[in-house]
Amino acid sequence: MRHFINLKDIPAKDLRRIIIDARKRKTSRKKLSNLEADKGLPLKGKLLIQMFEKSSLRTRLSFYLAIKQLGGSTLTLRPDELHLSRGGESVEDTAKILSNFGNAFMLRTDSDKKLVEFSKHLSIPIINGLSPSSHPTQILSDIFTVEEIKKKPISKLNICWIGDSNNVLNSLIAAAIKFKFKLNIGCPKKYQPKKDIFSYIKNNKNKILVYHDPKKAAIGADVIFSDKVISMNDKVDSIKKLIHFKNFKIDKKLMSFAKKDCIFLHCLPRGKEVDEDVFLSQKSKVWQQALNRVHVQKSILLYCFGKLR
Ligand code: CP
Ligand code: NVA
Repeated sequence: MRHFINLKDIPAKDLRRIIIDARKRKTSRKKLSNLEADKGLPLKGKLLIQMFEKSSLRTRLSFYLAIKQLGGSTLTLRPDELHLSRGGESVEDTAKILSNFGNAFMLRTDSDKKLVEFSKHLSIPIINGLSPSSHPTQILSDIFTVEEIKKKPISKLNICWIGDSNNVLNSLIAAAIKFKFKLNIGCPKKYQPKKDIFSYIKNNKNKILVYHDPKKAAIGADVIFSDKVISMNDKVDSIKKLIHFKNFKIDKKLMSFAKKDCIFLHCLPRGKEVDEDVFLSQKSKVWQQALNRVHVQKSILLYCFGKLR
């Protein structure tokens, strides 16, 4: 039994195994429809309990299909219906009940501390479905998408992030270290990664560079990633923050600094950080990116259950 909380705590070889497994599973079910299960039903009889303390469309749907395709089932709890959310029950007791009734727990939360606390008290795996500091299932799936489209290991590509220093970027940085790829970050100085992230980068001697000019960050990129400037529950003056980011919009001009065959990725939902011209162009692979989450999350579940092939 293994938890899946942060990419930085998972060995690189295990992350690679998850991607390889996802690739094989995706290929082998080309003719199957969404609710048809994979051969062998590897998670037959298993219940994945999901709880979202913040909004979600993609993560919710993709975990639903993921566990179904593996032969199991899922139940989504509403946090406002639990005693936990009103202080009427401890994390410890909630975790004990979840462990007795379910086989894995996927939590999207506004508290990194809560994820860690749950992980201490659960006897079933916990998966981080987005926290303030990371979004690991998204980024592992995005590595899969990049390699699927580019048909080469991500270590041979130049990756660029234009946007806020948020949970998704933190996971992308962790991935850059694990998968050894070059990462250019373009963001206003005021919104560059925090000190602890900088020391994580430095201690890992990686090729991660931060630019305050988006054009410089985009030069030679094979992939440009972005995300909303204002994340869920971002406690900032959103009008001011959007003004600070006005020169960091991903438009055709910015894309022209990247390689000719550069693709655009975005975890979604989007805001105004990307022009329609780019978002709806051939270079944008955001729908493929979203759908791939099903495939990678299946292999993440199998990893957690110790059943990765
Ligand atoms: N990208 C992503 O996690 O989407 P949702 O917030 O809709 O789950
Ligand atoms: N950074 C965004 C990601 C949404 C999937 C947020 O946390 O709201």
